[in-house]
Amino acid sequence: MKKYIHSLFILLLVISSNESLGNEKEKFVNDLISQMTLEEKVGQMTQINLTVIAKGPNRFSSSFPMEIDDSRANKALVDFKVGSVLNTINNTAQKPSVWFKNISKIQKIAMNNNRLGIPVIYGIDAIHGTTYTDGATMFPQQITTAASWNPENAYNMAQVCAYETRASSIPWNFSPVLDLGLDPRFPRQFETFGEDPLLVERFGVEMIKGYQGFDNNVSNKHKVAACMKHFVGYHATISGKDRTPAYIPDNVLSEYHIESFKKAIEAGAKTVMINSGLINGIPVHADYNLLINILRNKLGFQGVILTDWEDIRKLHNRDKVAKTQKEAVKIAINAGIDMSMVPYEYEQFFNDLVELVEDGEVSMDRIDDAVKRILELKFELDLFQNPVTNYEDYLDFGSKKHHQLAYKAASESITLLKNNNNILPIKGKPRILVAGPNGNNMRTLNGAWSYSWQGELTDKFAGDFNTIFEALANKYGKDNVKYVSGVSYKENGSYYDMVEDDINKAVSEASKSDYIVLCLGENTYTEKPGDLNDLNLHQLQIKLAKKLAETGKPIILILNIGRPRLITDIEPFMSAIVNIYLPGNFGGDALSDIFSGKVNPSGKLPYTYPAYPNSLIPYYFKPSEVQNNSQGAYNYVGEVNNLYDFGFGLSYSEFTYSNLEINNDQFNLDDSIKISVNVKNSGKIDGSETVQLYSSDLYASLTPDVKRLRDFDKIELKAGEMKTITFELPVSELAFANSDNQFVVESGKFKLSIDNLSKEITVR
Ligand code: BGC
Repeated sequence: MKKYIHSLFILLLVISSNESLGNEKEKFVNDLISQMTLEEKVGQMTQINLTVIAKGPNRFSSSFPMEIDDSRANKALVDFKVGSVLNTINNTAQKPSVWFKNISKIQKIAMNNNRLGIPVIYGIDAIHGTTYTDGATMFPQQITTAASWNPENAYNMAQVCAYETRASSIPWNFSPVLDLGLDPRFPRQFETFGEDPLLVERFGVEMIKGYQGFDNNVSNKHKVAACMKHFVGYHATISGKDRTPAYIPDNVLSEYHIESFKKAIEAGAKTVMINSGLINGIPVHADYNLLINILRNKLGFQGVILTDWEDIRKLHNRDKVAKTQKEAVKIAINAGIDMSMVPYEYEQFFNDLVELVEDGEVSMDRIDDAVKRILELKFELDLFQNPVTNYEDYLDFGSKKHHQLAYKAASESITLLKNNNNILPIKGKPRILVAGPNGNNMRTLNGAWSYSWQGELTDKFAGDFNTIFEALANKYGKDNVKYVSGVSYKENGSYYDMVEDDINKAVSEASKSDYIVLCLGENTYTEKPGDLNDLNLHQLQIKLAKKLAETGKPIILILNIGRPRLITDIEPFMSAIVNIYLPGNFGGDALSDIFSGKVNPSGKLPYTYPAYPNSLIPYYFKPSEVQNNSQGAYNYVGEVNNLYDFGFGLSYSEFTYSNLEINNDQFNLDDSIKISVNVKNSGKIDGSETVQLYSSDLYASLTPDVKRLRDFDKIELKAGEMKTITFELPVSELAFANSDNQFVVESGKFKLSIDNLSKEITVR
């Protein structure tokens, strides 16, 4: 009782101190707004690219070293009162001391030369570590982290990234990506947590906690404001290409795309960035229904709504829903946009918006509403008191401690897809040929958003870390491990072109080796440069694989990919296949520890690995995808043709499942279902297994998905050990969004399954 009273007291204290902080913020911001001119308000709603105010030939490109240009900065930050700056110069990472110097200068100009002394809010894309800071800790990309099936890795990444972003004097991060990564063709699948809505939700929430802290107190100098993106439905395009049209019915949007944002909003996410594409013919930046009715009113989002890159302009230039630039501004701001990532021609946005308010086309209430949210964010980040954090206060920046967390995430994510005759792990000191374009560089291990937007500078910045070849040479001895690329990426500005280096040399070296480690995959890319016309692996890589296979030596195929590129043609020739995705700076080391058996692989696919280019469907397809004629009269292609299923991944141990039990067989809507199962490590070494609970609604008023992931738990099991795992699943979580866009659980039978065990229950 005493303990209870004590906790109640603390809870009341926290509530009342939050309340008084809330009142203080409200008073401070209202007071400020009451003194602001229209121009000052519109300036707060404007975000520019750093190149616009840096020294250099023009506003699109800057000179090195990075330095703020006084007259350009005064024009933007003082004459036009711009309230936010983003990005780096020329897409290049900078040292923390350079960030400190430049952001200090920006704040000095903005705060000393404007009558109200409002600080600038600086934002950056730091999506798997602090992208644009030299020396920052680079974690695996989100898709890789999802493959660990351990949300703690997302938390670790975000809290280290928050710390190192603040060490770079930046308080606002355009991350996490909460998009559903359901299309392997889409150039940004690697930025997501994969194809399953539950994985995206669980990992997304951990990212918010890591960035903003458990208490969402972002005045904490180790925390940043998160930015959920890209609201909403960004990846569900028809063409599979970036920023192209999507057609999504409301109930599909609710059930598969919006939930991850809903959960992140509940977790306290401070800001959101809008989908740069269009849904049902409406550019999302012009969609009042999505931004106001859904995001603000239904989901209760209180924070700042930011555009994506140049997206107001695109309502006129690209999407043709506004006849002029000015009309584009009117549509977007009235649809609910608070801040415009202009990011270059800020004068026009500024003048247009001022005029629109003067002409009564945009109300002052709408402006005040936007500015209030922006100023509240600045207040919460403590920018009025402490506008710049100093790298000298961040002793853990790029530390061993941070590196170890990045290594851990990589080692738990790497996914063993095939292991004939237990060829892995490899003991002793065999002769190994490492071949392929991804075998000896840091660039492809990291992917895009690493030291630069497209990731092309990584080898310059991350040269101290180990490539796959270097890590294997460290492990098995420099004399035993050789590297011959065979084919490589062509560095001519094209992201896909390949050249043949010397396939014959690779083949002759292979015949002198005991094993071939063939590292294939993709070069780095994101956004439009990553659009794809052919999901197959490049033909030169296929050629290299086939030639090496002719030597008869065992090949271990390493897939270093941002999305599942098709390998069906060469799969039969491979003794083992390991998907490392984009594992970051410690991917080489983690892989070599899996090779030697120091680490027992435990990653599982966060997406379906397709076998053919015309069979690209996630695991939660509708039953009509499988329609083989039962009389055998026709042989339909209509089978689900995956190379590897969602949730699949091997281990050096074997796990056996038994005794699936459910506490009842009849349930009411407000009940919770208890499902337990025994999992045994029947192998000879310790390992980790992810236990996955699926449900199938057997009949429903809308055709149900064949199955849906409802819960998961990654557990450690010693060799020979057995554990009983119990899930508690509220019946309400079996719901789907019906044709009235309502989440419902319809009465009837459901099948619950774990591994290959299943049981039916009835919901009354
Ligand atoms: C991307 C966003 C990113 C923004 C700022 C856009 O092109 O779509 O994800 O946050 O640029 O760099």
